[in-house]
Amino acid sequence: MTHSPLHWICAAICVGLWLALVGWTIVKVRRELAAVTARAAALGQTATDTVLIAYASQTGTAEELAWQSAQALSDAGTAARPVPLSELDDVALKSARKVLFIASTTGEGDAPDNGSGFLRRQMTHSAALPNLRFAVLALGDKSYDRYCAFGRQIDAWASDSGAKPLFPRIEVDNNDPAALTLWQQQLAEMAGTENLYAWVPAAYDRWQLVRKVHLNPGSPGGEAWHLVFQPVGHSPKWEAGDIAEFALPSDAVGERVTREYSLASVPADNGAEFCVRLMTAPDGSYGLGSGWLIRDLAQGDVVDMRIRPNRSFRPAPSAAPIILIGNGTGIAGLRAHLKVERKGQAWLLFGERTRAHDDFFGEELKAMQAAGILARMDQAWSRDEGDGRYVQHLISENARDIERWIDRGAYIFVCGSLEGMSKGVHAALETVLGEERLQGLTDAGRYRRDVY
Ligand SMILES: Cc1cc2nc3c(=O)[nH]c(=O)nc-3n(C[C@H](O)[C@H](O)[C@H](O)COP(=O)(O)OP(=O)(O)OC[C@H]3O[C@@H](n4cnc5c(N)ncnc54)[C@H](O)[C@@H]3O)c2cc1C
Ligand SMILES: Cc1cc2nc3c(=O)[nH]c(=O)nc-3n(C[C@H](O)[C@H](O)[C@H](O)COP(=O)(O)O)c2cc1C
Repeated sequence: MTHSPLHWICAAICVGLWLALVGWTIVKVRRELAAVTARAAALGQTATDTVLIAYASQTGTAEELAWQSAQALSDAGTAARPVPLSELDDVALKSARKVLFIASTTGEGDAPDNGSGFLRRQMTHSAALPNLRFAVLALGDKSYDRYCAFGRQIDAWASDSGAKPLFPRIEVDNNDPAALTLWQQQLAEMAGTENLYAWVPAAYDRWQLVRKVHLNPGSPGGEAWHLVFQPVGHSPKWEAGDIAEFALPSDAVGERVTREYSLASVPADNGAEFCVRLMTAPDGSYGLGSGWLIRDLAQGDVVDMRIRPNRSFRPAPSAAPIILIGNGTGIAGLRAHLKVERKGQAWLLFGERTRAHDDFFGEELKAMQAAGILARMDQAWSRDEGDGRYVQHLISENARDIERWIDRGAYIFVCGSLEGMSKGVHAALETVLGEERLQGLTDAGRYRRDVY
């Protein structure tokens, strides 16, 4: 049997191509393995043995629980590491043996900002995770229609991906202590100990109301008040972005109702300051918390309050420029950031109803501009004749400058109402920067929101 040279050339090309394909596949698999190993090393010890505690948190509660859970497990001899859900990629998921998900739900059944990237990247398809064991602690509030929606979604996705539950999902309604105790018991069982360090919620501290100023007399909007409290017998520490939890006076059954407010000051200010809106129902009755703080409390009264770290709204690195965006009482969380000494420039975009009555902390902000603390300030007055703009309009009008600041590494902070403001601001930022870039900023922690 004879073959023409053409046949031999064709055969050689086929064999060459086949060898190239095999070689390329080997290199690819090796690279992937190397990536898994490198990532595992970066995760500390033998990453496979370390329990990952992946948290998604909007206002700090889930994040705090993740750190406490990690501490308790580590104390019991089980290596554990908290990690924001945004940082949990394919490689980490596939190299870990156990992942505990601690996830709150925000908005209307939505993922917190540091979970939205994971939802988009990982949860749109089931992953192959047959070697993974997992558990879910879902935080939520039964007063919302879509109770614990994001935690439930994670649970369903992990099961669909072939991961095996360590124990059934635990749902926590409004910080229910019984559910949190159950979580701690499960962790103890996992760590094989009966003496797991049992953390308890931080105790309330005593604070005295020392100043109370009506910020917007004559406003067409609800009353807003500046409240200043000083610590009684303790030396509190907190950072800009943190949240205060007030315990309202107990009712007849002794149940403790709480309300949360963004801190408008830093410890150097010598007091915990707030900007609180009086909520009024159509029948004229006041909101429980705001009515109590504004109508019932008098200067000199002492209350129970504790401060919760809210790491995902804390200050940006000092050298980075910051863009602060908000409306109404959202000025509180933004003002705290302006109190932090920093090298990067700050730009405030703020909206309220009228310049004449709602220019909250107006004199102080002007002084900050004069001192160079605030490089730029733009305001929108929705009820003023000739203006009629909301804060999101300021974003569209200054699109080029927003882009320039982001190009220079700026962080965006948004504080204030979820419905009335943050959705409009988000849409305006998406138009200016593009959906992908805004998601990238969210994942990188450069788009931070304290919205309620
Ligand atoms: C992280 C975070 C930070 C926050 N920061 C701030 C802040 O800096 N400043 C601020 O002002 N708020 C802030 N809030 C909101 C605050 O926690 C409270 O939700 C707000 O003050 C309203 O609480 P309330 O007890 O006064 O009203 P609630 O008693 O809870 O009532 C809520 C609403 O229902 C209405 N309502 C009550 N009873 C009735 C009824 N019978 N019929 C019809 N309607 C009724 C009330 O008028 C009100 O509009 C923040 C919230 C969160 C989660
Ligand atoms: C603006 C806002 C929206 C919320 N939306 C929901 C919701 O849709 N479903 C739910 O179960 N809980 C909802 N919650 C309750 C939170 O999930 C709950 O307070 C949780 O403990 C917050 O955890 P975090 O501090 O880690 O974000 C919402 C809370 C806030 C402040």
